[in-house]
Amino acid sequence: MRNLLSIEDLSRQDIERILARASSFAQVSGREIKKVPTLRGRTVINLFYESSTRTSSSFELAAKRLSADLVSIKAQGSSVDKGESLRDTVQTLSAYDPAAIVIRSPYAGAAALVASWTTASVINAGDGKHEHPTQALLDLYTLRARRGDLEGLRVWIVGDVLHSRVARSNILAFTRMGCAVTVCGPPTLIPRDIATLGCEVRFSLDGIEEADVVYALRMQRERMTGSYVPSLREYAARFQIDGRRLAPHQLLMHPGPVNRGVELAAEVIDSPQALIVRQVESGVVVRMAVLYELLAGGLSPLPASRGIRTEPQPA
Ligand code: NCD
Repeated sequence: MRNLLSIEDLSRQDIERILARASSFAQVSGREIKKVPTLRGRTVINLFYESSTRTSSSFELAAKRLSADLVSIKAQGSSVDKGESLRDTVQTLSAYDPAAIVIRSPYAGAAALVASWTTASVINAGDGKHEHPTQALLDLYTLRARRGDLEGLRVWIVGDVLHSRVARSNILAFTRMGCAVTVCGPPTLIPRDIATLGCEVRFSLDGIEEADVVYALRMQRERMTGSYVPSLREYAARFQIDGRRLAPHQLLMHPGPVNRGVELAAEVIDSPQALIVRQVESGVVVRMAVLYELLAGGLSPLPASRGIRTEPQPA
């Protein structure tokens, strides 16, 4: 495997292999010295055009724990915007002969474009509202660590599904592992064709008691161009997961950052049912496993072709 752009690129077997590798890295993470020499002498570039706390820091730690040389670029506030200028940046960075470029962008399809311009392996760390595959992998890893086999688990994804790349990647990932996925939110925040990804659709929390896992999403206000709910208060009244709505047997997940008091009430965020901190923890070992898979596990980019692709490649 050369790039990780979408969960669609992964078979169940690929996912199993990455999760197993992540478990082996979890053993390394339990040691006092958390580093292995796997990527010594290789360069990883993190290129983030959007805000990030968890994803950027865990990719940094993952690359460092594999002993790679790491360059982290936060493009926020720069004049770099889209299209050609992204291409220029990638061509510039490709001169360092990176083994991998980790890209987060507000534009759907940006990671695939980058992959067509560079010989480095490209990892999609979130492209607009399209996909965020490593988030889905770390969620599978976290849930499996708690619940064991995922086959048959019922997962409800609740909130702003329309603007969420996490929702798209997670519907694909959870269904691939045999879970039954339901998405739930106000009709204005559920994409019309979402059921084609293999999930059920609900427009109210009625029936949420059947879920084994409640996966809450933030309102992605940075991607909203109009008004999708009458008010956050009203949204919270109908869709907030609180101590009344979350039964003791249900697990709670959220990719972060949480807007306390909107999609989640404080009492559930801090409850033992919440896996939110575990998800963050899993981010490092799962991203180590993804870097390993692309750079050390199979075919690596050919050193002879250094950096920039000469021909545009299909994504
Ligand atoms: C998510 C993202 O950026 O897509 N955050 C993350 O990576 N942990 C979800 C969000 O921003 O709500």
